[in-house]
Amino acid sequence: MPNSLTAIYPGSFDPPTKGHLDLIARGSRLVNHLIVAILKNTQKQALFALEERVEMLKELTAHLPNVEIASFDGLLVDYAARRGADTILRGIRDVSDYESELRMALLNRRMRPETETVFLMASAECSFLSSRMVKEIVMLGGDASAFVPEPVVRRIQAKFPTVTKR
Ligand code: PNS
Repeated sequence: MPNSLTAIYPGSFDPPTKGHLDLIARGSRLVNHLIVAILKNTQKQALFALEERVEMLKELTAHLPNVEIASFDGLLVDYAARRGADTILRGIRDVSDYESELRMALLNRRMRPETETVFLMASAECSFLSSRMVKEIVMLGGDASAFVPEPVVRRIQAKFPTVTKR
């Protein structure tokens, strides 16, 4: 185990949910430096621009001094190598996450053998949460405040000003 451990927690974070924040807080206690790395995804149609996601995550993690918010494009393993991080942190909510995460971890290790993926189980109260469903709830006028922090709810609502709140 190296003396100073840097881990990368990669994802789309479109938008960040309470599940992501739970993982960031728990992950930040396990390592010296946690880089939350937002994928600059050119394929997926994102609701929030990269800059907005960076802004939200910076605001929501301001109380965690060893957490850095960054973004990356290209292969995750190449970014990890550039940042000197051999550890990738990911969350697992259920069996279907396990299957896709296992494939991703094995692929990443095959491409860069130094890469070790560490999984944290999602907290029970977050295990059903996904950014996609949160967006859908807000778009359809539902209350998502149990799933995403208040500043995020406001930002999603601002994207759909014509939706009537239930
Ligand atoms: O939050 P997400 O969308 O589940 O995160 C997926 C992410 C960003 C971790 C994954 O798509 C990724 O690492 N993309 C970068 C490209 C890459 O390295 N692909 C090969 C590994 S599957």
